[in-house]
Amino acid sequence: MYQLLICPCLGKHTVQFSLEEVPHIDHFVQRDKEMQRLTSFFFPQNQSQIHRNIFVVYGLGGIGKTQLCVEFARKQQTRYSAVFWLDGSTKDAIRRSFVNVARKLPAGEAPICLPEMLAAEKLDMDSLVGRVLDWLSLPSNQRWLLVIDNVDRGYSEKGQDSQAYDVMRYCPKADHGNILITSRLSTLRPPQHSLCLGSVDRAQGLAILESTGGDIVPGVSNRRQCTITFIHTVSDTISQKRSLVMWTPFSTCLVAFR
Ligand SMILES: Nc1ncnc2c1ncn2[C@@H]1O[C@H](COP(=O)(O)OP(=O)(O)O)[C@@H](O)[C@H]1O
Ligand SMILES: [Mg+2]
Repeated sequence: MYQLLICPCLGKHTVQFSLEEVPHIDHFVQRDKEMQRLTSFFFPQNQSQIHRNIFVVYGLGGIGKTQLCVEFARKQQTRYSAVFWLDGSTKDAIRRSFVNVARKLPAGEAPICLPEMLAAEKLDMDSLVGRVLDWLSLPSNQRWLLVIDNVDRGYSEKGQDSQAYDVMRYCPKADHGNILITSRLSTLRPPQHSLCLGSVDRAQGLAILESTGGDIVPGVSNRRQCTITFIHTVSDTISQKRSLVMWTPFSTCLVAFR
């Protein structure tokens, strides 16, 4: 007796969803209002014509921008043919992310012979970025989501910061596709298409503290719980010289103090 095995083949321009390079967490505490905002922007009820959708989530460091976008990408992955995650923190980082994107392009669709270029150590970054943008601009390839995370450096043409860059240079010019950017800069947002991510409420704050290892001690008020966790985390952070982590419990705790 023969058994018919049907292989789930991926369609044209389709890339399997993966969180490989994405800084995801295991226990996302839901932020319904903000998630709804992203969903209604990228999947409007009455979409009459296709155009390029760009949305910026901005706000303080540690407020949860990256995790909100990870969760959005996770939830909506089946509605996209491909989801790419770019580290936008520096010019070098975003260019390295484009190498990762190029590696993931479906077999036969990669516009350049990347393995040969890598082997020959002749990686022309500008050309590679350009080719990936070309692929994203193909008229038949419109259902992708590009997340550009942590675009936190202010760019100006005469600026001194060599790692700052113009994020639009890394967005495909074609009038289709979906781009989600996170940034600490309120100035980056294009008008109308942005969300200033604020603090979570008290219940969400406590849930986040709990999920990130803060102890909830019975009989101690919420406010005191947060103070305790905050002090512990900060001293732990200082002793381990992890300055970046400091902002995370801080923004969470600020919420609980209100
Ligand atoms: N919704 C959430 N649920 C659980 N933990 C969260 C949530 N949002 C943020 N965090 C925690 O805060 C940290 C910082 O969040 P992140 O999204 O990286 O902030 P931002 O991108 O605004 O700097 C995360 O690593 C995670 O530990
Ligand atoms: Mg972030």
